[in-house]
Amino acid sequence: MSFESSKTKTFGILSAGGDCPGLNAAIRTLCSAASLRYNMKAIGIYDGYMGLINGNARELKPADFEDILSLGGTILGSSRIKPYKTDEISYTREQDKVMLIKENYKKLGLDCLVVLGGNGTHSTAKRLSDEGLNILGIPKTIDNDIEGTEASIGFDTAVSVAAESIDRHHSTAKSHGRAMIVECMGHKVGWLALHAGIAGSADIILIPEIPYDINSIKEHLLLRQKSGRNYSVIAVAEGALSIEEEQMDKKDRKKFRSESHFISIAHKLEEEIESLNLIEARSTVIGYAQRGGTPSSLDRILAIAFGNAAAEHLADGNYGSMISLKGNEISSVKLDVPADKIKMVPMGHHLLKSSKSLGICLGN
Ligand code: F6P
Repeated sequence: MSFESSKTKTFGILSAGGDCPGLNAAIRTLCSAASLRYNMKAIGIYDGYMGLINGNARELKPADFEDILSLGGTILGSSRIKPYKTDEISYTREQDKVMLIKENYKKLGLDCLVVLGGNGTHSTAKRLSDEGLNILGIPKTIDNDIEGTEASIGFDTAVSVAAESIDRHHSTAKSHGRAMIVECMGHKVGWLALHAGIAGSADIILIPEIPYDINSIKEHLLLRQKSGRNYSVIAVAEGALSIEEEQMDKKDRKKFRSESHFISIAHKLEEEIESLNLIEARSTVIGYAQRGGTPSSLDRILAIAFGNAAAEHLADGNYGSMISLKGNEISSVKLDVPADKIKMVPMGHHLLKSSKSLGICLGN
């Protein structure tokens, strides 16, 4: 069997940060393409950067990655260990963790390390790349908040799960004349809540980018009541803030939330709406179901495209970048593009315009 030439002979692969559907589809495609086309060796590194710190790694064989396209989660495990942050638990100093990473990178004979991760993972990747390691990133997160790519693996599946949940709240809202609050993930950005809210026909959509005014929500509920619709479905991102909270500094906001008895924004909103004495309110936190289970077809396609592009980048020795989606093009950006940034929903986004046209209240 003849192989195409490749500048990479052996690469490591790890998944870090929140898991999501589609990770295994990317792992499977990258490892299959790398071995079948270029005869590369894949070293699986377990539990995110932790696996590189403690050397928990082994060669991946076809039996490991052949049949995992539709499998949720990640066969490599994940963690949120931050090598460039002194670890409060084990008091492992960052210089020790980074030194161990460099030692194990060498010991494993890696020509490149491929990281599947979100913005935190890519911020670490950029620093390791600046220190001389060959790194290649593949964007994944249900939050879709990675600068430099229009979509990340996991986002489409999470939108479908959340949209279905929001959709299912209309019948019970109408039957009981209630405001049903459905909380989506997305601790700093509103991509998931906005897409799922629109797809699930929410009447109110609250995202962190637009701090909400409870009086605007009250007006909207009254407006709906006047037109005979004594029920509403509210999609809210877990990181959404009231205008009062937005004006606090980070420390005061954290104190305010920790001293309150609200487990999450959905419960806070439920109490705020009930106190309007307009309508009963109930809340649901969708939670980790948005990160679970088999990937949607679109996420499988995106993961396959990203995985294959990563194999080609490895073969070309095109390191120091993150695979990305731009329009319909699969390309890549330098690691400084996603590093230390968060892609927020821009105020001119077309879905915000559609929301206005559809008479959806955005809390402002
Ligand atoms: O980053 C993705 C994400 O699912 C966020 O939407 C969510 O707030 C966070 O991860 C949860 O983190 P953990 O899995 O560490 O609880």
